[in-house]
Amino acid sequence: MDTKFFKRWISDVSPYIPGRIKDNFIKLASNENNYGPSKRVIDIIKGKSGDIFRYPYKDELVKEKISEYCNSSIGKNLIWPENIILGNGSDELIELLIKTFQSPYIGFYPSFVEYNRVARIFNEIYYEIPLNDDWTFDCGKFINNEKFKKAGVVFLCSPNNPTGGIIEKSDIEKILKFNKIVVVDEAYYEFSNLTALDLIDNYENLIVLRTMSKAFGIAGLRMGYGIADKEIIKFLHKVKPPFNVNILAQEAALAALDDVDFMEQNVERIVKDREIMGKILGKKFKVFGSRTNFLFADVSPYTAKEFFDKLYKKKIIVRPFGKLDGFKGEYARITVGTEEENKILIEVIEEIF
Ligand SMILES: Cc1ncc(COP(=O)(O)O)c(C=O)c1O
Repeated sequence: MDTKFFKRWISDVSPYIPGRIKDNFIKLASNENNYGPSKRVIDIIKGKSGDIFRYPYKDELVKEKISEYCNSSIGKNLIWPENIILGNGSDELIELLIKTFQSPYIGFYPSFVEYNRVARIFNEIYYEIPLNDDWTFDCGKFINNEKFKKAGVVFLCSPNNPTGGIIEKSDIEKILKFNKIVVVDEAYYEFSNLTALDLIDNYENLIVLRTMSKAFGIAGLRMGYGIADKEIIKFLHKVKPPFNVNILAQEAALAALDDVDFMEQNVERIVKDREIMGKILGKKFKVFGSRTNFLFADVSPYTAKEFFDKLYKKKIIVRPFGKLDGFKGEYARITVGTEEENKILIEVIEEIF
C-alpha cells in the first residue's frame, strides 16, 4: 500500500492494545468491575432491545440523573444537565477535548496512555513530566517546568492509571489558578471517594471526566461523561458526533444510576480486597498504594512478561507494562476481581512466586 495516502504522522502512532481475554480465564487486565452491573441494568437492556431501531433519545434524562448522582456525592446542588456532556466512554471525551482545545497539552508520566496517543493521532504536542520515583506528584516541579508554561490544557488523572495514586486537591487547585484548561480524569472516583467536582463552582477552566465502565460495571456499553462550566460544555457539543451514546447504553446508565447501592456494595468489597491483596502481594513485590480497583507492582526480579506468563499458565490474565522510561523496575497492573477470583489469585501468587 502506498503510504502517501496516510497522514504522515500516523505511522508513528501505536494502536491501543486492550487487555487480553480468554474463555475460562480470570481476567484482571482492564480494571473492569468483575461483579458486573446491577440486575436492573440487565433487565432493562433485555426489555428495551426492541427499541434499537430508534436513534438514541434519552441524553437529557441521563444528564439529569448524572447531575443528581454528582450532586449527592458532593452534598451540594452545583451540577446541572447543562454542565454535562455524554461520551461513548470517557475515551471519546478525551478525543473530543483534543479536537476542541488548542495544544500543547501536558500531563505527567506514567499516566493514562490515551491522552498522549490521541494527541499524536491529531499531530499535536503532548508533554509528559515524570512523577517522582515513588509515583507521587511533585506539583512544584510540574508547574515550574518550562513546558507547563507553554501548555494550554493539563491532563491530571486522579486516581491515576496505572500507578493508583491521587493528586491532592490542593495541588489541583494550584494548577487551576493558571490560565489553562485543567482536565481531571476521575475514572476511578468511586474507589477513592475523592473528587475535584466541587471546584466547578469556582473554576470555569475545570473539566472532570468520569466513566460508568469501572464502578458501575458497564464497560462494554461505553458510557462516559464530562462535567464542566456550561460554556465549555456548549463548545464541546459543537464537536461531539451526533448520537454518540447508543440507546442501550443510555437505558443502562439510567438503570445503573437507579441502583447506586448495588454499585457501592461492590466498591466496598473491591476496596477491602484491594487492601488485602496489596499486603499479600507486597510480601513478594514492591506494591504501590492504590485508591483504585487495581494494584500496580514492580515485579522484578521477574520481567513483567515472565510475571504475566506464569499467571497465564494458571489461567489468570493481568496487564504487563514492562519497563517504564526513566524508572527502574518491571511493572505489572492487576485488577481487583471478585472475592472468589481474588482468593484464587492469592493462592496462585503464594504458590508460584
Ligand atoms: C484513567 C482512565 N480514563 C479513561 C478511561 C476510559 O474509560 P472508558 O471506558 O470510559 O472509555 C480509562 C480506562 O481504562 C482510564 O483508566
